[in-house]
Amino acid sequence: MHHHPGRYPTTRLRRTRQHEWLRRVVAETALAPADLVWPLFVHEHEASHPVASMPGVERLSIDGIVKAAADAAGLGIPAVALFPVIDVRHKTDDARHAFDADSLVCRTVRAVRQETGDAVGIICDVALDPYTTHGHDGLLRDGRILNDETVDVLRRQAVVLAEAGCHVVAPSDMMDGRVGAIRAALDAAGRHDVCILSYAAKYASAFYGPFRDALGSHAALATAARLGVADKKTYQMDPANADEALREIALDLAEGADMVMVKPAGTALDVIWRVKQAFGVPTLAYQVSGEYAMIQAAAANGWIDGGKAAVESLLVLKRAGADAVLTYFAPEIARALTTSA
Ligand code: PBG
Repeated sequence: MHHHPGRYPTTRLRRTRQHEWLRRVVAETALAPADLVWPLFVHEHEASHPVASMPGVERLSIDGIVKAAADAAGLGIPAVALFPVIDVRHKTDDARHAFDADSLVCRTVRAVRQETGDAVGIICDVALDPYTTHGHDGLLRDGRILNDETVDVLRRQAVVLAEAGCHVVAPSDMMDGRVGAIRAALDAAGRHDVCILSYAAKYASAFYGPFRDALGSHAALATAARLGVADKKTYQMDPANADEALREIALDLAEGADMVMVKPAGTALDVIWRVKQAFGVPTLAYQVSGEYAMIQAAAANGWIDGGKAAVESLLVLKRAGADAVLTYFAPEIARALTTSA
């Protein structure tokens, strides 16, 4: 507590809640377009294709992504995060398409960069899930996810993405030691300017379901179940743990992470708070697909006001200490914030 709060009736906390202008004066936290990062799905087709479990979200063509990035710039959204829908014929056990310079995501990065230059940040996931036949973020052998062999592929993937022109690589795989390996590989390739945003505290969560729909990785993960690794619990964190999240963050920072992420966001407000307090580094939160889907589903049923719920769900992430939030609501919220200001 900062100081004694005073005593009723001299002190009446409702006094500063009376008017909209006064509530705005005393607001401790604000949400702005600059706080939002927009995750986008790119696919090989010309027509866009809706994601059934994420109303309002579509898989876009490369041209569609270029246009979305330009829209982001116009709306004051600082960055987009790209996720490719990879055709099954490019999925292999060794995930070699992950470091193919002609992959869908690399072509997309080049196209966006050509159009928007440095006006919009381009963030690319570093993980093998789009590229493995089994949908795991790492290589799998004899029923185990291999750590160091996976890291070897991740650093090659990171360099290829950097060379395509992305500004930020975001390892979301949760292998040990990958941040250090990626930093060393980027530096050796002369890419010291490329940032690392580490998905440092990423939980094995039930809230990623719609994202896996969007990428079509459910089928692959069914293969994984047959191979004896049905879930991602041997590399993603147990939602029971928060001290461990701080250790993950400390290690990734020591290895060279520029920014860290906590994911999912709404189920980890305490973790966001502790990370920001403990390290004071740029801290992002990812409001994941399932969080988005829940708000949209309830809103579609008329059970909640979707727009208000979206703003509230994002504002509290800022209150918890997040500097920015990845959210599928980004364009809608940025538009609303711009027109109401
Ligand atoms: C893959 C990845 C996932 C998400 C981002 N990167 C899914 C997973 O780990 O299975 C989830 C994002 C979301 O649910 O919105 N490494």
